[in-house]
Amino acid sequence: MRKKIVAGNWKMNMNYEEGIAFARTLDQYFRNKPALKADVIICTPFIHLAEIAEIIKGGKVALGAQNCASEASGAFTGEVSAYMIKSTGAEYVIIGHSERRTYYNEDDRLLNKKCVLALNSGLRVIFCCGEVKEQREEGNHFVIVKRQLEEGLFPLGAESMKDIIIAYEPVWAIGTGLTATPEQAKEMHKYIRGLIKEKFGNKIADDMTILYGGSCKPSNAAEIFSKPDVDGGLIGGASLKKEDFTAIVEAV
Ligand code: 13P
Repeated sequence: MRKKIVAGNWKMNMNYEEGIAFARTLDQYFRNKPALKADVIICTPFIHLAEIAEIIKGGKVALGAQNCASEASGAFTGEVSAYMIKSTGAEYVIIGHSERRTYYNEDDRLLNKKCVLALNSGLRVIFCCGEVKEQREEGNHFVIVKRQLEEGLFPLGAESMKDIIIAYEPVWAIGTGLTATPEQAKEMHKYIRGLIKEKFGNKIADDMTILYGGSCKPSNAAEIFSKPDVDGGLIGGASLKKEDFTAIVEAV
């Protein structure tokens, strides 16, 4: 059976000390819990990775980055490669977040390149997809998500799919307080699983974890996660507060 996952995306929040302290708090909280129903991942800024990797050793929290370079190594000032991320002890990387697509013009071809580098470095990829408000209003949300997956993800091939987690994040629901209704999430997740089935067959589709992201909070998480094909969440704002994040993990 596929895994349930709750992943926190800290985005560009918390300085070095704050991030380390928060990771310690989360690690201790989950370490003392009996077996969890969901895997917990925190995706932190690069500066926190190596130290948090030490803190969480032997515990229940896993670690990821939020981006990686689209080149393997060399003269790319300011970039951080997948290989470097892996060397910190992190296991995951988010690729294709809408904030990267929008503010840094990352397109599906580039994202596919990043996925290849991440997988080759031994990282698992949390691949984000989702439509903007106008695309949903025009009824194009399925077409957009299909294109993102067909161009960014599917060229990786069937063997890579075991190292992929998909996150459906409708852009209009990110940080806006607007959440997709549980029905909207259910419908899109079913559609995404259907695309994977068409491309790679039943087994890979059934095993794929598909997360929902966009204004997920303790008050709506349980209902969204209860829908078929919704296997957990990718959490932004609410992953920065212990009470909220732990409540969302417990909502699975
Ligand atoms: P919010 O939960 O803050 O809406 O952000 C969602 C998100 O972008 C997670 O990657």
